[in-house]
Amino acid sequence: MANTSLHAAKDAKNDEFYTRLEDINEEMNHYEDKFRNKVVFCNCDDPTWSNFWKYFHMNFEYLGLKKLITTHYEPGEVQTYKIEYTGGNDLDFEDGVVTPLEQNGDFRSDECVTLLDEADIVITNPPFSLFREYIALLMEHNKNFLIIGNQNATHYKEVFPLLRDNKIWLGYNHVKEFLQPDGNIKKFGNVIWFTNLDHNKRHEVLETVYIYSKKDTLYPDLYPKYENFDAIDVSKIVEIPMDYNGMMGVPDSFLELYNPDQFEIIGISAGTMAKEIGVRKNYRGRTDVAYKDKNGVDKCPYSRIIIRKKAGDNNG
Ligand SMILES: C[S@@+](CC[C@H](N)C(=O)[O-])C[C@H]1O[C@@H](n2cnc3c(N)ncnc32)[C@H](O)[C@@H]1O
Repeated sequence: MANTSLHAAKDAKNDEFYTRLEDINEEMNHYEDKFRNKVVFCNCDDPTWSNFWKYFHMNFEYLGLKKLITTHYEPGEVQTYKIEYTGGNDLDFEDGVVTPLEQNGDFRSDECVTLLDEADIVITNPPFSLFREYIALLMEHNKNFLIIGNQNATHYKEVFPLLRDNKIWLGYNHVKEFLQPDGNIKKFGNVIWFTNLDHNKRHEVLETVYIYSKKDTLYPDLYPKYENFDAIDVSKIVEIPMDYNGMMGVPDSFLELYNPDQFEIIGISAGTMAKEIGVRKNYRGRTDVAYKDKNGVDKCPYSRIIIRKKAGDNNG
């Protein structure tokens, strides 16, 4: 097997883990008012085991759904089927109209894209190895969605600009456990929900601290200035200063608490996307933000989101 095929096979194997009903339930609770009269499409879900199918089938009447559709993928040329449910029998999860597909259920196939166009909201845990393509397709087709993905995806060049521009955002919960085909549990520490459905958390004010010094400079030990970019480093979210109007580099976890009425996201602190916002080369010759600590030692914080408080916001 060629090396690339080997990688593809390994990625495909790593994609086989299934979302638990309780995790779906916990996240969907925050969007209950969004489903009325909507067509929900789960396009990476075999209804024989998918808890997404089960959840929406079970809650069909309660949520006031119009239609539920799932399709699933079989590798190779194997035909698969779609199943559609329009309500009436929430007690039998197998209830629904089964229609064979001509293709293999790949979410990118013509048949699945036609179903995508029929759908209002796409909800699933797609294969992580195809996450870039998956989200690009949803954006291209202007779909609302709630999908599970790895936190690392927030740094993808195909994903970060969408977060920055408030086209998508993070959901409420981390998803920590998944079921594997052999019945074992697979644990993750960095799996989250991505969505473009509005929710209350992104309108909650993030607590900030009042810490401004009289000379218009913040305590330099607490908030060192980067040497290669005009921003200060804020190493803990709880220490974001309320009264600083310049740019700040904050840990990635900010994205989970980001309120677009309170802050704007300017960019990311490392790599090509950092270069685009004007981060210059540091002492290591790289475009990662860097500063000298109080002992004069060069420091390069692991990863930062560059943000700025919105004009006129004094919340916190
Ligand atoms: C992480 S699993 C999640 C499965 C299910 N959505 C769930 O949450 O339980 C991702 C699923 O996507 C399927 N998949 C892989 N490539 C696909 C493709 N091109 N189109 C649709 N589904 C695909 C895999 O077979 C796998 O079952």
